[in-house]
Amino acid sequence: AVQGVIFDLDGVLTDTAEDHYHAWQALADQYGYAFDRAANDRLKGVDRAGSLRLILDGAGASVDDARFEAMLAEKNALYRARLTAYSPANLFDGVRALFAALRGAGIKIGLASASRNAGDVVRLLGIADQFDFIADAGAIAANKPAPDIFLACADGMGLPPERCIGIEDAQAGISAIHAAGMVAIGIGSEEALPDADVHVPAIGALSVDQILSAEREAAS
Ligand code: G6P
Ligand code: MG
Repeated sequence: AVQGVIFDLDGVLTDTAEDHYHAWQALADQYGYAFDRAANDRLKGVDRAGSLRLILDGAGASVDDARFEAMLAEKNALYRARLTAYSPANLFDGVRALFAALRGAGIKIGLASASRNAGDVVRLLGIADQFDFIADAGAIAANKPAPDIFLACADGMGLPPERCIGIEDAQAGISAIHAAGMVAIGIGSEEALPDADVHVPAIGALSVDQILSAEREAAS
């Protein structure tokens, strides 16, 4: 049976995916690079430097290392400025109830975000103490779609990966969950996340029963 549920953060527990988008859009506008929501969808779950590489590729632009680093710092400053408005009110509906139900069922809760800001975000949301383990994106060798962060999280919770289920809103994240040998629950449509084993429209629509049956379905 499921012993641990590993959550992505941005776009799963809170709407920071939208803030990442606005920060990238502002940066792209400033440099005159073509960018929009569709382009941003391909950045979801992708780490900061990987995202900038995709934006530069899309614009057919190349910059030297110093400029690249400066742009990363600029994007992060734009993003962190938006975080200053965050409070527990920014937690998606149903997260606290789902966490309580998981805990009641004896299931551990982990966080596997590619964001180096994840620790600050969960503190701002008031849920930092809810996790049995928070994987450190800065200590991971390979980012999503590689399985590393989900494997590190399972390990940190003291659980074998096959006893864990991952929850993601991004295609790169669903791939990472599967590469880790876990069942993947997608927050979003079947069209947006074709590889997910189960789909729910929002985290608030997900019950512990559904999580338990997702594992049974995937196993059969
Ligand atoms: C998550 C988000 C991405 C973001 C990445 C790195 O995966 O979905 O949009 O680029 O984290 O976030 P960071 O806060 O480290 O720039
Ligand atoms: Mg996400």
